[in-house]
Amino acid sequence: MTSAAMLSGNHGCLVGISKPTVFTGASAMFLLVYLALWKYHDINNPLLASASSLTGDETRAAISLQDNIIEEPEQITSCDPPVNVTTFKNESVPVIYFVTPTYARSVQMAELTRLGQTLSSVPALHWILVEDAPKCNPAVGKLLRRLGIPFTHLASAMPSAYKKLKNPPRGVSNRRAALQWIRSNVKQGVLYFGDDDNSYDLRLFDEIRDTRNISMFPVGLVGDYAVSAPVVYDGKVVGFYDSWPAGRRFAVDMAGFAVNIKLLHQFPNATFVYKVGFEEDSFLQEIVTDVGFIEAKAANCTQILVWHTRTVQVPMAMLQPPTLIIEDTSISGLLHALDENKLASFSTSRGKPSSVHYLTDV
Ligand code: UGA
Ligand code: MN
Repeated sequence: MTSAAMLSGNHGCLVGISKPTVFTGASAMFLLVYLALWKYHDINNPLLASASSLTGDETRAAISLQDNIIEEPEQITSCDPPVNVTTFKNESVPVIYFVTPTYARSVQMAELTRLGQTLSSVPALHWILVEDAPKCNPAVGKLLRRLGIPFTHLASAMPSAYKKLKNPPRGVSNRRAALQWIRSNVKQGVLYFGDDDNSYDLRLFDEIRDTRNISMFPVGLVGDYAVSAPVVYDGKVVGFYDSWPAGRRFAVDMAGFAVNIKLLHQFPNATFVYKVGFEEDSFLQEIVTDVGFIEAKAANCTQILVWHTRTVQVPMAMLQPPTLIIEDTSISGLLHALDENKLASFSTSRGKPSSVHYLTDV
């Protein structure tokens, strides 16, 4: 089957990125009927957002006019003295700039510890960790310094206009801040957006390191298909296997692509829109001028090297500290750690009373 034949059939959510162009009178008739039916399908599919009926430039205009309410640059706080980004020894190996948006919650330190320890096994990697907060959390800074990997620690809070929304666009202001930082500080390397709660196979880093323009690969545990993946035919990306096409040209997850940093300089305005679910597509539509440039990774997009895992959110405990504390026990240090890591907050008048069960009690 040719790629044109593959794409012309109704493959549900196999989103085609090129269409057959040569057709006769009869097939033109068929095409009109087909398009009418497809349109009907779109209108009646609750999963498809309104953008699905738009194409190319129209989609782009719709996104930028309606969704980028915030036009001014993000407020960015630099948390640590800037590091020298050119200190990597082997300059022939492209450096991976791994951008992680993160926000305060009880599971944050657990996520960052696990991710940081994965990243410390990767050579020539620079971690750009951007907190969704007006200022930096010292406990996060401490973890970064302890890991001993090159890092940049920034903070950039979600604009308040979006915070009020029931389903706000997550991690956008912080990723935009990271783009700004890279454009001002880095000339070359490979950019990857790695959320703090995903799981990464170390082989992923070998795959993305030689990204010449833009590379794509499957992400496990996304949507109803258990995966979001580019579809490769004859070595080329010809579509996407993703259960939420939603009119997106590039139906990919944030963790499913890497970009050569030269493209950030080539397209200085490319950024993420504040629109849930359309962040990746908005960015990719700006920088992918030729779909032939997309490099299929992970054995022609047949392997899963990254998973969109989600951690159960545990509300921060509100506690009253034990009233009877025997001096010199570990308890005050422990409570301090709970507070520092935002696992619990303490008040002497409110919250759940807590107590120590001493061995001598029983
Ligand atoms: C999915 C995608 O994998 C994200 O890349 C995308 O940003 C997100 O949907 C979206 O479109 O909203 P999902 O697992 O649903 O991700 O979202 P989270 O893991 O909750 O958040 C994505 C990233 O943003 C995480 O690294 C998280 O720490 C960060 N985040 C989340 C913030 O910085 N601020 C928030 O208020 C929430
Ligand atoms: Mn997530």
